[in-house]
Amino acid sequence: MIRVAKTAGFCFGVNRAVETVYKLLDEDKTVCTLGPIIHNPQLVEELGRKGVRIIDAPEDAKAGETVVIRSHGVPPEVIEKLKVLGVDYKDATCPYVQKIHRLVSDGEREGRRVMLAGDAKHPEVEGILGCCKTPYRTFKTREELENLFKNEPELAEMPLLFCEQTTFNVEEWEKCLDFVKKVCTNASVFDTICKATTNRQREARELSRESDLMLVIGGRHSSNTAKLKEVCEPYAQTYLIETAAELAALPVKGKMNIGITAGASTPASIIKEVLVTMTDKIETNELNFEEMLEESL
Ligand code: F3S
Repeated sequence: MIRVAKTAGFCFGVNRAVETVYKLLDEDKTVCTLGPIIHNPQLVEELGRKGVRIIDAPEDAKAGETVVIRSHGVPPEVIEKLKVLGVDYKDATCPYVQKIHRLVSDGEREGRRVMLAGDAKHPEVEGILGCCKTPYRTFKTREELENLFKNEPELAEMPLLFCEQTTFNVEEWEKCLDFVKKVCTNASVFDTICKATTNRQREARELSRESDLMLVIGGRHSSNTAKLKEVCEPYAQTYLIETAAELAALPVKGKMNIGITAGASTPASIIKEVLVTMTDKIETNELNFEEMLEESL
């Protein structure tokens, strides 16, 4: 049996960013994006064929181009630079990310030190940290958080502000929170994992508990897709695939309950392609899916 998570695919913020690009193209604008608009190489390639360039910095924009800021957001200094250079731009930062920018700035104004759960190298986190004018700390796990306090025991008494990257692992956050409650005497805590992420991870966990095999469809550079894989792994054999072409290499044997989910930046067309490839083979028996996979072992 194959079951697909209802939450698989584009979230509201990613959809909004991609729609922004398509709308500008419809208006005959020349468009470039600051970094790939989403972490999905197939969609990025498709946009490339329509003339959408990827740039790394505001200075790279050519005259007449409209720059789209992706849903991850950017540090405030990047917006300032676009303004100074007089570059036309559309800000498609997800409102959930904008909310974290505001929280961090307000917290600092109150004299709080920002403690952000997330991957410091992820563009969303870089954008959030770009709002900080005073020292901050980041951590990815409860263990890393505990180590921060071991190295700087004075943190426990300081005014702190805790929040997370929107796609942080919900279970790991709960573990971190447990530590914060035990140790910190003056911490403001904001749960900033977005609802789309919470629901997607919860459904993926439930589905993986009832499946022998989980397929997570999404880009290999997508942070939220990688976290979905992490969420499913304790319960089922889990594979991350970018396209239907990768199905053939999966080490699957016999009849299986297969669960499918997909990252927030996975287009519906790719999910459909995976499903059609699987069901076609199962239903029509032209090419037996299980046999094909056994052959590939
Ligand atoms: Fe926004 Fe959440 Fe998507 S923060 S971009 S709705 S994963």
